[in-house]
Amino acid sequence: MSIFYDENQKSFYLGAGKASYVLHVDEDGRLLNQHWGARVPDGALSPDFSHYPTLASFDPRTNALPWELPTRGSGWYGEPAVAATNAKGNDMVQLTYVSHAIYMGKNRLPGLPATFARREGDAETLEIELMDRLTGLRVTAVYGVFERTGAITRSLRLKNESGEDMQINGVLSASAPVHGSGYDVIHLKGAWARERHVMRQTQGEGEYRIFSQRGASGHESNPFLALCEKSATEFSGEVWAVSLVYSGSFEALSYVNNTENSRLSIGLNPDVFTWKLEPGETFVSPEAAMVYSPDGLNGMSHAFHRLYSENLMRSKWFERDRPILINNWEATYFNFNEEKILQIARRAKELGVEMLVLDDGWFGKRNTDNCSLGDWVVNPEKLPGGLNGLSDRLHDLGLKFGLWFEPEMISPDSDLYRAHPDWCLHVDGRARVEMRNQLILDLSRKGVQDYIIESVSAVLESARIEYMKWDMNRNMTEPFSGAQTPERQKETQHRYMLGLYRVLEEITARFPEILFESCSGGGGRFDPGMLYYMPQTWTSDDSDAAERMFIQYGTSFVYPPCAMGAHVSAVPNHQTGRTTAMQTRGDVALGGNFGFELDLSQLSDADAETVRRLIEREKQVRTLVRTGEFTRLLSPFDHPYAAWQFRARDNSEALICAYRLMTRPATPHLLLRASGLDESAVYMDDDGNTCSGAALTRYGLWLHLPGDFTSKVIHLRRIG
Ligand code: GLA
Repeated sequence: MSIFYDENQKSFYLGAGKASYVLHVDEDGRLLNQHWGARVPDGALSPDFSHYPTLASFDPRTNALPWELPTRGSGWYGEPAVAATNAKGNDMVQLTYVSHAIYMGKNRLPGLPATFARREGDAETLEIELMDRLTGLRVTAVYGVFERTGAITRSLRLKNESGEDMQINGVLSASAPVHGSGYDVIHLKGAWARERHVMRQTQGEGEYRIFSQRGASGHESNPFLALCEKSATEFSGEVWAVSLVYSGSFEALSYVNNTENSRLSIGLNPDVFTWKLEPGETFVSPEAAMVYSPDGLNGMSHAFHRLYSENLMRSKWFERDRPILINNWEATYFNFNEEKILQIARRAKELGVEMLVLDDGWFGKRNTDNCSLGDWVVNPEKLPGGLNGLSDRLHDLGLKFGLWFEPEMISPDSDLYRAHPDWCLHVDGRARVEMRNQLILDLSRKGVQDYIIESVSAVLESARIEYMKWDMNRNMTEPFSGAQTPERQKETQHRYMLGLYRVLEEITARFPEILFESCSGGGGRFDPGMLYYMPQTWTSDDSDAAERMFIQYGTSFVYPPCAMGAHVSAVPNHQTGRTTAMQTRGDVALGGNFGFELDLSQLSDADAETVRRLIEREKQVRTLVRTGEFTRLLSPFDHPYAAWQFRARDNSEALICAYRLMTRPATPHLLLRASGLDESAVYMDDDGNTCSGAALTRYGLWLHLPGDFTSKVIHLRRIG
């Protein structure tokens, strides 16, 4: 049992892997968080909170208490986890315990993506109900405890049990005290084509906040924040982390108050969110995942990887190897016709590729990025046989067929816009801000949701299509909806997300066999919310191998490699102008869902030979890459190398991957230690060299990587 209720003490022990999360109802009915950290035996802690004394009349005890659900009006001066105003203008909330329930399994969150128990025994749930007896606000904190994965989730249900309207002003899905301060704070920072770079800095006093108000999780920050001991490394030290299962605007906070204790929070961004709750209505917050690791940053990532691959990805593709694909975007951009695509396809097939993905430009009259989004009708000039004709010819060649869409967008130059100029997010009387020549459809409107569901479904039904790339190429600038009343305008962003989730729910249910890939100008919406519907995301529009070492390294802090799209592209690279060897490009792309994004029909003989070998290797290692435990070995943010490994969970094989950044003269070879292999086993690489698990993990492997951006991938198989 991973949830234990100590009735005498009124304490709840949530145990997941190496973590405990201990809650306590005090004599005043307040819900306090006694401990989030190393696993303690059930019932082991005496609920003594006298060590949080009143310091002065200016610092009441309530500002020192480790609240589980801090609110304004309860004597807490930090950011509230639940903020609401009642019809009398009272925004003081005081929550006290009413009841609780514990049950096996985990319920879905209505209309929202959420983790779930894939197998019996994966999760257990605790629901704690609290009430503000004056205002009639009922709050239910729902905890999912994933013993095997080592993660704990929380979402909040807010119900208006008064007879009048209320307004919710903020909800933090997770907001947990971390004892002490002086930690480092880590987040994943980025920009278009430079996503999820690891930023680690001193936590400092006061508040450290990352956020998005873009209507998407965004390239700039990822909905993830961690605190760790200053001495923590990839392999040791304590780490606390939160991640939000949501794809829209968010905030994440590290807060140290004047009692020198920390708090780590994540939830909806209150700058762009309010919600009117009518009498009897319930609001459900997105879910947050909380991970504590005593084993450094890899320990944290191992827990997130298991949770997000095994207990979040719903797609059948969760347990299927992904096809090796060729995507025509960087090969042709908008400039293609059926013959050109087939020319690439024939060469791709010869080399061992399994699927062709037709990217942007197949519909309407879209020959540049300034028109036709919304008109999901094939362009007969480019594809005279239609999608069906192309799909048939690809299948005749023995290839699967995938297709790009950008369903949430509308071009002002489109038939859809001419028919429905009011369907985009805009403020009447103001110019509509275009980015990449496009506007955003108002997905808070049911009519717009239905249009997308039907128009996308019609295309998916019109031909044999096995994969869909769902793109989204701009952020919101005017989250204002013509369909909402004035007091509900700040609901628009969240209503958009609920609309998007409804659309994704419907389309993925109608087409359960299709492999969906999420994309947003590369990795601008790489978040757990999208992974619930689509098991993989295009990691970045930056396909340069050297840049990808950083991007994939940072992305792996939270997301498993089986969630990342990784393609080999042409040189000089289109984003950076850098030239790297085909072998290096392939060795880096092997760290995710492998594919190509270049004109394969133009390859030199030497490159074609390398590509053939890369594909053969990929077919041998992709199950290991998808299902193995991924561990970071050397950070390119700290070293002139990047290195990581995939280890089969039964220790039968491993892949050690090492990459050199810029070379320097007179530097030693690299002695790289593997991690977690069976020390009593003997492993053999593809060249017949053998080595014991103990030597590989305690001493290491000598690697010589001469020259800039060179790489080495070693496939070890257990032979004894
Ligand atoms: C975005 C995607 C790219 C490509 C283009 C097409 O930038 O990230 O991979 O699909 O759109 O316009």
